[in-house]
Amino acid sequence: MPGKKTLDWKSKDGLAVGKGATVQEFVATFGDQNLEIDVAPWGEGHLRVNGKKIAHVGDAKDRRQAFRNLAKSAEHYVQEKLVEPASKRSSSMIPAVKAKLLEGKRGLIVGIANDQSIAWGCAKAFRAFGAEVAVTYLNEKAKKYVEPLARELDAPILMPLDVNVPGQMEAVFERIAKEWRTLDFVVHSIAFSPKAALHGRVVDVERDGFLTTMDVSCWTFMRMAHLAEPLMRKGGTLFTMTYYGSQMVVKNYNIMGVAKAALECAVRYMAAELGPKGIRVHAISPGPLATRAASGIPEFDALLDKAKGKAPTRSLVSIDDVGVATAFLAHDAARLITGETLYIDGGYHIMD
Ligand SMILES: NC(=O)c1ccc[n+]([C@@H]2O[C@H](COP(=O)([O-])OP(=O)(O)OC[C@H]3O[C@@H](n4cnc5c(N)ncnc54)[C@H](O)[C@@H]3O)[C@@H](O)[C@H]2O)c1
Repeated sequence: MPGKKTLDWKSKDGLAVGKGATVQEFVATFGDQNLEIDVAPWGEGHLRVNGKKIAHVGDAKDRRQAFRNLAKSAEHYVQEKLVEPASKRSSSMIPAVKAKLLEGKRGLIVGIANDQSIAWGCAKAFRAFGAEVAVTYLNEKAKKYVEPLARELDAPILMPLDVNVPGQMEAVFERIAKEWRTLDFVVHSIAFSPKAALHGRVVDVERDGFLTTMDVSCWTFMRMAHLAEPLMRKGGTLFTMTYYGSQMVVKNYNIMGVAKAALECAVRYMAAELGPKGIRVHAISPGPLATRAASGIPEFDALLDKAKGKAPTRSLVSIDDVGVATAFLAHDAARLITGETLYIDGGYHIMD
């Protein structure tokens, strides 16, 4: 129901949006959930649900526009909650799945920033199907968000991994080699592009911005495969996350589309190279999801509206949808599927 307002925003200080010189705060409630928006005069703001940040706007024209964008994100959030079964509404718990289809398998999940991350959706699904997972966090600042999630997963290995820090990736694989000796899957769910590169035209991207984007978003997957290969003696599955903006020109996706195209191509070469060893390689291509990474893409709400309106299923995907489909591909039943870019987007990519 885009356009239909569910939330009634009240100003904490009684001022209308845009008035006053300081950060303004607005509150609204939805069932047992308290929603808060704060907006600064220079166009930055946050949306929180029960104290947890779920959206951020960094470069709105002014406070009024930042508020409008965040209020729209909040509407999306509650509309999604309205169609969710009540049992799922306020829970990020690992779903109960009876069939432990991945029991005995062990894998590394890279890219959990918080409980909105696609990597968290994957970690929950792999765990629910009985796999054991090792988890990484970007740095000390991120650790406080990731640690409780790793505990929920009973992750026996939790390590720092900033791919820009020399040696950290190797250290993660060394620890896995020491403790587990083998590895069955890796989920690479990270991407990064400096703002100046991401927000400009592809035509204008500077060399540094290009190299950083390609390095973090593409090369690190190849390197993880290189480090995982000797541990996948009995075969395994490598996953990375991509997006439709690699195939089509998607407004505001810019240089990240170029990096994702390279990533999808790398997946095919890697699948061909590693296939004889029983190692399969896939790119997973979810529809748009309101994660922290997505908050760096301007007009992301418009992308969500378009996805919902155009997808044959008329629905947005959730991180759990992405997680279970990814986990399925790690099962032996999918042993002859490799080199794929699998769209989990309600069928959006088949429409013209
Ligand atoms: N959100 C979407 O709409 C969407 C759609 C399709 C694909 N994807 C892809 O999914 C993946 C995960 O993103 P997300 O949407 O879950 O957002 P997210 O912000 O939750 O995850 C991005 C992750 O990348 C990590 N990261 C960034 N720089 C890093 C570095 N130097 N070293 C190690 N980790 C680093 C962050 O710590 C974070 O955990 C990305 O590859 C993204 O491009 C996202």
